[in-house]
Amino acid sequence: MKTVFSGIQPSGELHLGNYLGAIRNWVKLQDQYRCVFCVVDYHAITQTYEPKEMARRVTDMVVDLLALGIDPERSLLFLQSSVPEHTELAWVFSNVIGMGVLERKTQFKDKSEHQPENINVGLFTYPVLQAADILLYKAEAVPVGQDQLQHIELARDIARAFNHRFGKVFPECEAMLTNLPKLLGIDGKQKMSKSLGNHIPLTVFGANDSGKALKKLLSRAVTDDKRVTREDAGNPDDCPTIGVMHKQFSTDEELAWVRTGCTTAGIGCVDCKGKLAENMLAHFTGYAERRAALLANPGRVEEVLAMGAQKARAIAQRTLGEVHKKLGLWRPKAAP
Ligand code: TRP
Repeated sequence: MKTVFSGIQPSGELHLGNYLGAIRNWVKLQDQYRCVFCVVDYHAITQTYEPKEMARRVTDMVVDLLALGIDPERSLLFLQSSVPEHTELAWVFSNVIGMGVLERKTQFKDKSEHQPENINVGLFTYPVLQAADILLYKAEAVPVGQDQLQHIELARDIARAFNHRFGKVFPECEAMLTNLPKLLGIDGKQKMSKSLGNHIPLTVFGANDSGKALKKLLSRAVTDDKRVTREDAGNPDDCPTIGVMHKQFSTDEELAWVRTGCTTAGIGCVDCKGKLAENMLAHFTGYAERRAALLANPGRVEEVLAMGAQKARAIAQRTLGEVHKKLGLWRPKAAP
């Protein structure tokens, strides 16, 4: 069975963009691959953040991952900082990769522009830690979005450079790009993101308010701009928010209803959004129930993460042992 690795920053509760763009795919991958999913808190500290909020961000996210169907019995699910081998291997890797290669990575440039007051070394070596994440588990495939391709390419370069210089330890991993919808935020302009505030948090599906919070968000979602009034005809393909979401949650019949209604102005956006809300709420019923159960049992998250860390460390230590050997690092026999 092939090994798949993916990581996610602990941003707190997940939103619809995370779900459609990544997590839904992770849940499916569990049927076919040995999956390793890591909440990358050491990566998160490269950005300015509030320490008091970190524990919450992690636990909220893990609750959501479990409620969405990540199964800790089948997959590894753990917190990056609980497995110190990640940073150890990153240090080793920082010795096989040139400064110039990292300097050319655009994500570093983008992120430094985003926080000019905090351009730290961690931000610069971020992709080296990411390569260590993947390669510690000898993962062959990495499900990620387009924006991460440069990092996966670097991980492959690092694996190759290490193997070439010290002997083969690592497989050359590949990105696994699935055809996922590009979901814009409800502003209809930018990618859905928590920091932009244009997101639909998954918590609205567990709100126990008959969908009120969801409907309120959907009512603000920007639709096809040709439909200024209800009498104007539109096209679901030009609807940057609701059109895209309907394709994810509605049946072919319902999609035909949307198309006819929209292109002939037979239905209004309110009708279209109402149907979407209904389907979304139905889709996330199981999530909402599992989330409520997890929130009532906070020990469960700790238990899952402790078990995950233990299993992950066993693998990570084995890989790092091989690395030490290849590097020729000498250890006194009595050392642990
Ligand atoms: N850089 C990724 C992101 O911001 C998170 C990440 C860290 C990751 N390590 C990884 C993704 C390893 C895939 C594999 O989304």
